Amino acid sequence: MPALLLNSKNMDLSITFANVHFPNPVVLASGVLGVTGNSLKYVIENGAGGVTTKSIWLEEHLGHPNPTMMGNEHFFVNAVGLPDAGIDKAHEEIGKYMNWHDSQGLKAPLIASIVAGKVSDFGEIAEKIAELKPHLIEVNISCPNVEDELGKPFACDMNQAAEVTKIVKKRTNGEYPIIVKLSPNVNNLTEIAKSVEAAGADGICAFNTFGPGMVIDIDTAQPILANKVGGVSGPGLKPLVVKGIYDLYKAVKIPIIGTGSVLTGRDAIELMMAGATLIGVGTAVYYRGDEVFGKIVREMEEWCDENDVLDISEIVGRTHQI
Ligand SMILES: Cc1cc2nc3c(=O)[nH]c(=O)nc-3n(C[C@H](O)[C@H](O)[C@H](O)COP(=O)(O)O)c2cc1C
Repeated sequence: MPALLLNSKNMDLSITFANVHFPNPVVLASGVLGVTGNSLKYVIENGAGGVTTKSIWLEEHLGHPNPTMMGNEHFFVNAVGLPDAGIDKAHEEIGKYMNWHDSQGLKAPLIASIVAGKVSDFGEIAEKIAELKPHLIEVNISCPNVEDELGKPFACDMNQAAEVTKIVKKRTNGEYPIIVKLSPNVNNLTEIAKSVEAAGADGICAFNTFGPGMVIDIDTAQPILANKVGGVSGPGLKPLVVKGIYDLYKAVKIPIIGTGSVLTGRDAIELMMAGATLIGVGTAVYYRGDEVFGKIVREMEEWCDENDVLDISEIVGRTHQI
């Protein structure tokens, strides 16, 4: 059954992010399982409180050749390269999710992720995606494995990051909450966050993958990924994600989707204590399977039960109050 029914105890795992209500804080991160309407629906049926689509381009985008992924118990690298069929196909698939969502009377919001290589294209894709009336729009300016094609991500430059935020906000008439997805690969993170907040962002997603990094097969001396480099995720990065969210919470007033390295309910609680309101979950699917969303929600419920937390929003930023 949908996530709404997983939370059957007295405690309240529901939470509001940028004025949008989520039945629980666990949302599918962009790029993992979020390609079709059916896969988005499947993630909600597996317990997530909301879903983010794969990043959508104006036109078809091919991505990188295989092998594009490799993981072990410590880390995961991917150079998928943002493959996507383009906005027309996305209309079909998101439309399917929205119809199903509305017909069920659900409140499991959809975050539409958009990507482009030029500032003006961000405006155009934002306008087109708004026709579908997603609950929120996430602006992906931070993918580290398309640098050969697009150059340094816009998220690494506070002015470019602000320009993209402004155009997306303008072309959607201020009618949709806009989340800007930041990169951890910068040394002025809080300045960049303040700059997108001032440009009109309603929320931040922290973070995209780290790096890029490289993994070499020592039997052949070749990089394992065909693209040679890929974005790094996985459990070992959690202290860096937590510190980034902690710094962002102090720097900006807009809410944060904490995304990166969450495998368990306890990981999710830790990111929330650092300052995240929602928790994005992507790579955990490779470690714990498709049911990971419901598992994390149940583990969060258990932790709340043991610690007498009746309302999950109480723990957002708790570490800052200590
Ligand atoms: C295979 C794969 C594909 C991804 N594709 C996208 C994407 O299309 N758009 C995006 O904004 N982030 C993408 N990401 C980044 C994730 O959304 C997320 O920010 C990152 O992996 C950290 O979270 P995690 O540790 O829960 O995976 C991708 C990550 C992976 C592992």
